[in-house]
Amino acid sequence: MTYLASNKPITLPELARMKREGERIAMLTGYDASFASLLDRCGVDTILVGDSLGNVLQGRTSTLPVTMDHMVYHTECVGPIVERAMVVSDMPFGSYHESREQAMRNAARLLAAGAEMVKLEGGEVMADTVHFLVERGIPVCAHIGLTPQSVHALGGYRVQGRGDAAAERMKNEARVLEQAGATLMVLEMVPAGLAGEISRALTACATIGIGAGKECDGQVLVLHDMLGIYPGRKGRFVRNFMETAGSIDEAIRHYVAAVKDGSFPAPEHTY
Ligand code: KIV
Repeated sequence: MTYLASNKPITLPELARMKREGERIAMLTGYDASFASLLDRCGVDTILVGDSLGNVLQGRTSTLPVTMDHMVYHTECVGPIVERAMVVSDMPFGSYHESREQAMRNAARLLAAGAEMVKLEGGEVMADTVHFLVERGIPVCAHIGLTPQSVHALGGYRVQGRGDAAAERMKNEARVLEQAGATLMVLEMVPAGLAGEISRALTACATIGIGAGKECDGQVLVLHDMLGIYPGRKGRFVRNFMETAGSIDEAIRHYVAAVKDGSFPAPEHTY
C-alpha cells in the first residue's frame, strides 16, 4: 500500500493544494541520510529534522541542549538526499529568541544546509519573527500547544488549551501566526475538538497534529516513537507501527497510508 500520488516535489503551492483539497499531509522526523531517503521513497510528504534529536539521538531528557551546530549537521545529512519530500528543520532553543535578526542569521544557516522551511516554537510573541523571515523568503512552520522548549515554564509535558480561556488564547495565536505568514503549524498535545476548530479556521496555513486528533490537516510523529525503538516514556498519541509490519519500510508506508485515510490518530491517541 503506497500513497505516493506523484513524484512531484512537495513545494509551498503543493502544500496549499493539499490543505485546500483536504489531502492529509504525512510528516515524520528524520535525522540522517539513510532514514531520510527511506522516508522519501515511502511517500512521507515532509521530513522534520526535529530538535527531538536531543532525546532520541543524544539521550537527553529535553530538547534544550540542542545547538545550531547540531541542527546544521543533521540538516546537512538529510537535505541533499531527499528528492520529493519537503525538508523542515527545527530552530533550536535560544537560536531565535533574542531578535528577528538573530533568527534570520540562524534560519539562513539551516537553509544553506539543505532545509526548505524552518520551524520555531511559540505563539503571538513569535509573530513578528515569523513575518520577518517569511518576508525574506524563508518558509516557516509555527509550533503551538505543548512547546517542548518551554517545558520548564509549562510545568512538564502536558496537554495545552484546556478550558475556555486557554482555548481562546490558542485560537488567537493560530490566527496571528497565519497572518504573519506561517505555511504550516504544528499543534502538539491539544484537545482534538480545539485542534479541529483551529484547522478549519485557518485557510492559508495547514495544521500538523501530534496528539491533536484526526481533524488536523496532517500528522507528525517522531520516527523512533513510531518504530517503537525509543526507550523513554511513550506518549498516549504514539502508535508503534512496527507492531503490525514486517519491515521498517512497511511500517513507514502504513503510517503514511493511515494518515492519508484518517485512521491515524484513532480515539485512543487523542486528548
Ligand atoms: O522536534 C520534533 O520532533 C518536533 C515534533 C515532535 C513536532 O518538534
